[in-house]
Amino acid sequence: MVTGDVLFAPSLVTPVGTAPRRGRDLAPTIVRDAALVWRDGTIVYAGPAADLPTGVEAEATDELRVQGAVVPGFVDCHTHLPFFGWRADEFEARLAGRTYRDLQGGGGGILRSARMLAEADDERVLDFCVPLAEEMLANGTTALELKTGYGLSVDGELRQARLAHRLATEIPQTAAVTLLSCHAVPEEYERKEWVEVVCTQILPVAAAEGLVDAVDIYVEDIAFDLDDLARVAEAASAAELPLRCHADQLGDSGAAEAAVRLGARSADHLNHVNAGGVAALCSAQATAAVLLPVSTLFLRADPPAARGLVDGGAAVSIATDFNPGTSPCQSLPEAITVAASLYGMAPGEALTASTLNSAWVLGFDDLLGSLEPGKRADFVVLDADDVAMVPYRPGHNPVREVWLAGRRVA
Ligand code: NIG
Ligand code: FE
Repeated sequence: MVTGDVLFAPSLVTPVGTAPRRGRDLAPTIVRDAALVWRDGTIVYAGPAADLPTGVEAEATDELRVQGAVVPGFVDCHTHLPFFGWRADEFEARLAGRTYRDLQGGGGGILRSARMLAEADDERVLDFCVPLAEEMLANGTTALELKTGYGLSVDGELRQARLAHRLATEIPQTAAVTLLSCHAVPEEYERKEWVEVVCTQILPVAAAEGLVDAVDIYVEDIAFDLDDLARVAEAASAAELPLRCHADQLGDSGAAEAAVRLGARSADHLNHVNAGGVAALCSAQATAAVLLPVSTLFLRADPPAARGLVDGGAAVSIATDFNPGTSPCQSLPEAITVAASLYGMAPGEALTASTLNSAWVLGFDDLLGSLEPGKRADFVVLDADDVAMVPYRPGHNPVREVWLAGRRVA
């Protein structure tokens, strides 16, 4: 007999099976007149209400009937929280013709966010970030990535990793922390020198203290190159941490292909990925293609070959890239909206990309990302019965309820 809490819904929409999902298997399973049952926060049944094991209703400690579709909680596998302060004036300057590269060269961009973070004490930073994470929760994000990359000194990066850890304990979501010390070259270092400092003084300490779960690097003409990527990959591997890579965002550097070759967990952005990179991602077993459509919209950049990646069988994921420079958007429903209209992704594909595949990127897929027995009951109740309503209504929050481990939290 199955006992636990039961929720009945007109539909349950979820990816099913081993992560990451690819190609046609990105399409989620749709169960009509569904029931979801959990015990002690873990799902014990997800399927047609008519097939509920006998006795489950009688034994249910709680029973709920909702009107909208039930989907897995969204997993945001690429964010730049914790940060401090906004850069709306840079957005305005870009609208007037300045470029992202330009602004970075003039001491704006990432270096400016680093200064703002350094000037705020820990409590102010957390007071700024916790409400943002709450907003993410209200938009259905039940697990997320936190990154460093605005510390940009040995102490600054370790401080930001510790801040990320504190933030993770102060928010209800599950979080993983990524070390992105190779985000920009700090003013007082030469590039190669900084890469060595990161690999020998920051990464080993952060790993030994258990502060980080992955290592990222921004490969771009204004940041780091393919040799730096190889060096960081070596250091990440020595620390037994997965590698991630900001790849081919502003220009084609061959970073996506190199990331696949190095066995990175993900290559992210991909606006200018070349044909070799697309082919590599389509046949990669270990590397996801993380698409960040809001930063594309916001930078008015060329969209990547998203359809080629999806149809070619890449492990496609969608995330917000939430940061004050290129994507001040904390909503995965909004990212899905842009992915649909700008990248041509179907609503169901986008759902799997922003749940199970993103959970895989963060190493959470054993527990999160789909509604299947054995997984945690982290789910969202939408205000409509059809997931197409998510990308169909830009600017509208389609999330009516958010549940973590079987408890309603928003
Ligand atoms: O993912 N482009 C590199 N990093 C971020 C932007 C960071 C910033 O501008 O503060 C991104 O787009
Ligand atoms: Fe990013």
